[in-house]
Amino acid sequence: MIRKLADRRVLIVDDDRQVRRVLGEFFAANGYTCHSAANGQEGLASFDAERPPLTVTDMNMPVMDGLELLKQARTMEPDAAILVLTGMADVQTAIESLKYGAYDFILKPVNMDELLIVAERALEHRQLLLERREYHALLERRVGEATRDLAATLRELEETYRSTLEALGSAIDTRDLGTQAHSRRVRGYSLAIARSHGVPEADMSDLEHGVLLHDIGKIGIPDAILLKPGPLTPAEWKIMRTHPTVGRDLVAKIPFLRGAVPVVYHHHERWDGTGYPLGLKGEAIPLGARIFAVADAFDAMTFDRPYSRAIDLDSARAEIQRSAATHFDPGVVQSFVGVPLELLEEIRRRSTE
Ligand SMILES: [Fe+2]
Repeated sequence: MIRKLADRRVLIVDDDRQVRRVLGEFFAANGYTCHSAANGQEGLASFDAERPPLTVTDMNMPVMDGLELLKQARTMEPDAAILVLTGMADVQTAIESLKYGAYDFILKPVNMDELLIVAERALEHRQLLLERREYHALLERRVGEATRDLAATLRELEETYRSTLEALGSAIDTRDLGTQAHSRRVRGYSLAIARSHGVPEADMSDLEHGVLLHDIGKIGIPDAILLKPGPLTPAEWKIMRTHPTVGRDLVAKIPFLRGAVPVVYHHHERWDGTGYPLGLKGEAIPLGARIFAVADAFDAMTFDRPYSRAIDLDSARAEIQRSAATHFDPGVVQSFVGVPLELLEEIRRRSTE
């Protein structure tokens, strides 16, 4: 890195006019621009106005001494390079000045060559401090930018996952029901019931994925069975009932979707143990699957399907309450009843659009 020491201004503070003159001429002869002041207070005002990179100050002065000037100037500018000139009698104060951030002190009578060397070193030291500070600020800015970029990319990635899953859910619906919006509506109902039931927000995306993908196993069911207009034979039912297991096997292979397995695998279980594939009973059924069952039944009742006409939302809700404790978890049904009808209507309208 090229060091720029172009700023060679020096502030000379001494109550002895002769000293000020000699030092001023000396520094000027060595390429510096000089300002001078006759005591600490004047020096401080000049320092504040000029912000010189280098200050050379006497210790013992009327009005305000060099130590006080040093303290206040360093408060204004922590990187200020300040040299202290002192007589033998004041060595103790000069040493103290180092504690307050003086770069060095020089004993009077001043050896001019030494003064010049120390002045140059002090400026270089100050320059290093400034560059280091600048570099740190640059690093912090870059880290901040990178963090923001990363967060934006993550959000995009999540959004992409979400739309991919939604599209997949719609594709499954289309093949099965001839409508795309079933999964989206059931997702909306499920999330509303889950919130009313006090399910932590952190668990919502697993539930959402499970709901969107619940019937993904139907990919493995032949059209002749899936789309058969009449009732299925026992043998066909047996095949139909493999779809939760097929779905589980598919979804479990994708690490990002593993949380969806409980809903996909258990979405046909019933509270009284008469469901499939495992015939689980009560709370042995994962909560997400119990929530899904209510949401799915509600959607089935309130939307026209090939073999059933839709009933209104209120009647559907009453019907679900009647099936609490047989088909559905009574606790989940209670939470479902707690979801305002207007919210259910809103979800239905928006998911169908
Ligand atoms: Fe299913």
